[in-house]
Amino acid sequence: MAAIGSAVGLGNVWRFPYVCYKNGGGAFLIPYFVALFTAGIPLMILEFSLGHWSRSPPPMAFKKVSKNMEWVGWLSSLVPFIVASYYVVVMAWCFAYMVFSVNLMWRTDAENFFYTFLGKTSGISEIGGISPPVFLGLIAIWVSIFIILYKGVDRIGKIVAITVPLPTILLIILTIRGLTLPGAVEGVSYYLSPDFSKLLNVNVWLSAYAQIFFSLSLAQGIMITYASYLKRDSDISNNAFITSLADAGTSFLAGFTVFSVVGYLSHITSTDIDKLGIAGPHLTFITYPTAISLLPFAASIFGVIFYIALLTFGIDSAFSMIEPLSASLNRKWKLSKTKATAIVCVIGFLTSLIFTTGSGIYWLDIVDHFVANFGLVFIGLLECLTLGYLYNLSKLRKHVNKTSDVKIGKWWDMMIRFVVPAVLILLLIISIMENLKAPYMGYPVWSILIAGILPIIFIIALSFILQRRRR
Ligand code: PFF
Repeated sequence: MAAIGSAVGLGNVWRFPYVCYKNGGGAFLIPYFVALFTAGIPLMILEFSLGHWSRSPPPMAFKKVSKNMEWVGWLSSLVPFIVASYYVVVMAWCFAYMVFSVNLMWRTDAENFFYTFLGKTSGISEIGGISPPVFLGLIAIWVSIFIILYKGVDRIGKIVAITVPLPTILLIILTIRGLTLPGAVEGVSYYLSPDFSKLLNVNVWLSAYAQIFFSLSLAQGIMITYASYLKRDSDISNNAFITSLADAGTSFLAGFTVFSVVGYLSHITSTDIDKLGIAGPHLTFITYPTAISLLPFAASIFGVIFYIALLTFGIDSAFSMIEPLSASLNRKWKLSKTKATAIVCVIGFLTSLIFTTGSGIYWLDIVDHFVANFGLVFIGLLECLTLGYLYNLSKLRKHVNKTSDVKIGKWWDMMIRFVVPAVLILLLIISIMENLKAPYMGYPVWSILIAGILPIIFIIALSFILQRRRR
């Protein structure tokens, strides 16, 4: 349940629908499912089995595989910590919007309202001040994360028993509401109408793999850490399939939720869907709220439901990003869980502050792009190479098969050793070439160095340092 909670998050409700739409609509489901089966599920099984076999957080798990590879574990615990620093800020926006929903504060001009709320500056070089509502939301979210984690895993179990089913039910309610609105059919057919010509574009495939990594919370030490808490006789392959398919299913459903309402907005304002601005933060903080405020009845209630769903979907993803690092610090230096969690949360909170400023949305965009496209893919590759070549993978497969109903065949070894690395190397090369052609989204080169490249170099260096430090 916690693994599903980690996987299902803002990535499903906000990111998937527009990524799908941008990359060929219904046709995108082809690369998406290919990515799910050729990288997502094999890696999910790999991470579950490594955690379950080693019963350790990522650094110690990798150390058991090969003495000098502890740093890969540190790296995969540090990356989600960086993701958390901005993910939590988007949750703080949701928190504020949940409150704003009560009297639909954005009603007159949602776009202007959103930018004023952020205190958005005219460009990245103008830092701007901290937005007070975002700051308050940020404190609330970090404190919640601390309270959930500091006592250990039992509390995680209790929280996810609520925060996984609740938002799913809310999403279903919103979808039913959406699909019964006029214009919904046009919205949904816009989301799913296939443009097969897009499948020839390699960037579409890149987006599918990046979406799978981000959405399944792979390559971030999370599934390794969670699997290390499983009982010895727990089923592994079945759990890996369930987690992956539950995540993909939620994304698919969220597409209906969002696009039915987008169709309604287009219908009621007589505006083409193309002109509604659905790619990016617009979707959840401008387009969707605009549509909500135009609902014929109970608009505030549906607004509150939507943001509660986002918050509850997001919270278990957010604390899962902190758990690998705090569990690793706890294990290596015998720090108490409370102390380790406090240290990670305080540093995380301080790092998040940059994203609460008027230029925060620009920084967020750059960090997200580089970490998701390079960081995750790179670590996924390291994981496959370390386990595929420095360890006898068939031993791990036998370990999985000992307790699992669905037996894994030799195909899995092939995937981890050859197919997944080949695909990931190709993706990395294409990504690097794309990014060298022109700076991402036209941002100044210095800002890309600071927010895109430096954090990655910093955490790689830190991983080596942490490996060398004695207990
Ligand atoms: N899988 C989460 C989502 O789709 O929203 C996001 C996520 C969780 C990313 C955990 C990274 C992570 F470490």
